[in-house]
Amino acid sequence: MSAVTFFKEFTRNWQHTGAVFPSSPALARAIVAAAEVAKAKHVLELGPGTGPFTDLISKSLAPDSRYLGVELNPAFVAALRKRFPHLDFAEAAAQEYDFTGWLPEDTGFDSVVSGLPWTAFPTGLQRAILGHVLPRLAPGGKFATFAYTGLHLLPGGRSFRRLLAEQECRLTMTSTVWANVPPAFIYVLTRHK
Ligand SMILES: C[S@@+](CC[C@H](N)C(=O)[O-])C[C@H]1O[C@@H](n2cnc3c(N)ncnc32)[C@H](O)[C@@H]1O
Repeated sequence: MSAVTFFKEFTRNWQHTGAVFPSSPALARAIVAAAEVAKAKHVLELGPGTGPFTDLISKSLAPDSRYLGVELNPAFVAALRKRFPHLDFAEAAAQEYDFTGWLPEDTGFDSVVSGLPWTAFPTGLQRAILGHVLPRLAPGGKFATFAYTGLHLLPGGRSFRRLLAEQECRLTMTSTVWANVPPAFIYVLTRHK
């Protein structure tokens, strides 16, 4: 699926799509490294979109690991299933998906890669998604998500950062990845062991 299709989906629903262009290979490399996908047994991706992160995740997965992508947009899900037939995709909202159908309740995701447009979300939705997903992060597990440099200072970006800081996890940030439109950095939450 092309950048043109991504842009079309943006014009149809800007608040859910949240970006005009898909993320760059440089941002994909940074977020996949930050989330330590290669070490993970269970990997979750939120909002894979047209799959710029999924492509690298798929190439980085350890042989016995499993991947689940949760994406709201049916057009993106259909294209992802065609492009990555060996991966699992759920057409669902991240804040509602019942993970127990895919992963036993006592098992967590070691690596969560999020492409969700947090800054475009109201605080209630940010809270609902984090509250639904983070309890499924394994001890020592990584949750990595990006923010556009500068836009993270808008009200939606500030409330998201506050929510991240409130979690019972260690919060770190990477430096800006300039080879992305717009440039972005990555927030990483690490669940205490
Ligand atoms: C900014 S795009 C990012 C796509 C891709 N990860 C990238 O970096 O290019 C955000 C994606 O999140 C999806 N999305 C938005 N809200 C969602 C939700 N509540 N649950 C799951 N996916 C959602 C959108 O449909 C879109 O594909």
